[in-house]
Amino acid sequence: MKIGVIGCGYLGAVHAACMTKLGHDVVGYDVDEAKIESLSAGKAPFYEPGLDELLAESLATGRLSFTLDPAELADATAYFVCVGTPQKRNENAADMTFVDAAVTTLIPQLSDGDVVIGKSTVPVGTAERLLAQIEEAVPGATLCWNPEFLREGFAVEDTLTPDRLVFGLPVGDGAEPSERVLREVYTSVLDLGTPLVVTDLGTAQLVKVAANSFLATKISFINAMAEFCEATGSDVVAIADAIGFDERIGRKFLNAGLGFGGGCLPKDIRAFMARAGELGVDQTLTFLREVDSINMRRRTRMVDLAREECGGSIAGRRIAVLGASFKPNSDDVRDSPALNVAEQMRLQGADVTVTDPIAVENARGRFPDLRFVSSVEEAIAGVDLVLLLTEWKEYVELDPDALKPLVGQARVLDGRNALDPARWRAAGWTYRALGRSRA
Ligand code: UDX
Repeated sequence: MKIGVIGCGYLGAVHAACMTKLGHDVVGYDVDEAKIESLSAGKAPFYEPGLDELLAESLATGRLSFTLDPAELADATAYFVCVGTPQKRNENAADMTFVDAAVTTLIPQLSDGDVVIGKSTVPVGTAERLLAQIEEAVPGATLCWNPEFLREGFAVEDTLTPDRLVFGLPVGDGAEPSERVLREVYTSVLDLGTPLVVTDLGTAQLVKVAANSFLATKISFINAMAEFCEATGSDVVAIADAIGFDERIGRKFLNAGLGFGGGCLPKDIRAFMARAGELGVDQTLTFLREVDSINMRRRTRMVDLAREECGGSIAGRRIAVLGASFKPNSDDVRDSPALNVAEQMRLQGADVTVTDPIAVENARGRFPDLRFVSSVEEAIAGVDLVLLLTEWKEYVELDPDALKPLVGQARVLDGRNALDPARWRAAGWTYRALGRSRA
């Protein structure tokens, strides 16, 4: 099938390469010249394991190309809308500028029988509005919704072998072509036995925000337990392990620590609350406000812990921060809890040095006043305190015996409950973590 992908950011670039892998002919379109140039050369403009290899392989087939010219999309039958829906400035709601622009760009390229497939995370009701716009301009074209659940760091795997597929179909004449095109696009994925949920447009849009809200709630639940543990001297990691053995609960997404960040969970729960308000059912999602607050409080608590460890003030203290990305295996620093903590400490007068295996350049762009270095050794040289804030494998595996002679004071705060407290303490370090006793 001939496929057009509109928006070649995180979602679109991965989707375009994966659709080629599934055997389709794909044109990726974006308005960003640097992005198109980089992708055309087989280089992803962001870090994603396996994507460069897949891009090279897909480009070599001759069935994948990237363009700045929307006219090159005209041959396609299926058009995936993969643009971003960031949070509006100073508002909880999602900014729909890019989605609206994508559809406006697409309409002149559409013809009878074409199917536009929404992938972006949008407030429920958006698809119905876009469908009306498309049907009015091109009566033989239609729109359906196929939400995406990919995780950064596993994006290729999540796209090629997803946990499930969701097809949100329009009512009326568009339903049949939409389902036919979606089934053809995903034939090989469905042949693997991937579960499929076929539903209406509104439900499909909701599935995505429901999934992300559930994940955020699970993380904030365990972080609320961590807050409680801090009051009682109990151990949140043991609680997560113990309740996680209950199959109804499960251990995944119960890692207490600095909480969630990134380009999805924080803005998605906020946009969901904003939409509930518009629909007059804001009370149904009031709990998400608390989920958000618990999450943000962990960052402040981390700074408090640093202050406690430094005897009441961090002003003038030398502090090393290990990790800048919002999670390991990513160079994404959007709403990164680690950088938020680093910046708060800098504003309180600490002398902060940050390092990260791959996110330093992106982090510097957002926080120009923080000091960044490229190695752990440089970051921790002579410091009063070390904070582990993103659990990169190489940081989790650091040897506390080898590091001790490099620091000024052997004190570590584990913001991700990722280090082995016994090992660090045995090496002579003061170890503290969120939701765990001083022991
Ligand atoms: C998320 C969803 O998982 C994905 O399905 C959706 O499509 C996009 O949003 P992503 O943002 O890539 O994906 O990150 P994810 O792996 O979900 O982690 C989100 C944040 O939660 C990270 O900051 C991570 O550190 C934090 N987290 C995760 C925890 O604090 N504790 C956990 O137990 C798990």
